Amino acid sequence: MTKGISNRRGWWVTVCAVSGLLLTMTTGAELLAQEPTEADIASGRRLFHQKGDCQACHGWSGNGDKLDSQAPDGADLRASTLDREQLIFVIKCGLPGREMPAFDRMSYKDDRCLGRTQADLDRMGLELTDPGATLQNREIERLADFLMSKVIGKGEMDRAACIDFWGEDVDVCGDFRQ
Ligand code: HEC
Repeated sequence: MTKGISNRRGWWVTVCAVSGLLLTMTTGAELLAQEPTEADIASGRRLFHQKGDCQACHGWSGNGDKLDSQAPDGADLRASTLDREQLIFVIKCGLPGREMPAFDRMSYKDDRCLGRTQADLDRMGLELTDPGATLQNREIERLADFLMSKVIGKGEMDRAACIDFWGEDVDVCGDFRQ
């Protein structure tokens, strides 16, 4: 009898301990998800400038000052008000008919882009711009880490923002007076 009670209490203590642990683990995971590391941000920045070549149309700082004069005029991402989820959606599915490429290899092949297929886009007369290279989910997450912390809604760049953007005082930051 006493053994039964103490066992039950023991069980309860374990339940509390385990759920406490789970709680700490989930809060920890959520914090990690919200707070990208410097390495995540740096890898997102490389994807923006290199593999994704977003800068061809959006400019190196994302302000729409495109680097490639032949490229379409990309939006000023520094003035954008998108949240992370919307940002990821636009990168994956692009903006058909508006020259923003879709970077997910499977976009418009299955139902991940609002259920639309390439045939639907053709029917609607919406042309989809080809991305130079497609990006994996993991890469799109890093791009979003970078864009959310350094570009989206951050406004016009100044010298301090430039140094923060590159993580060091690079030559191009000398172009900003303050
Ligand atoms: C071929 C040119 C081109 C490339 C490359 C390109 N974009 Fe775009 N992007 C555009 C254009 C054009 C628009 C604006 C569409 C419109 O609003 O009419 C746009 C819009 C966007 C928007 C929507 C902004 C808003 O607030 O509505 C986001 C986000 C975006 N681009 C992110 C990216 C990212 C990230 C990359 C690289 C992975 C990228 N773009 C590569 C042309 C490009």
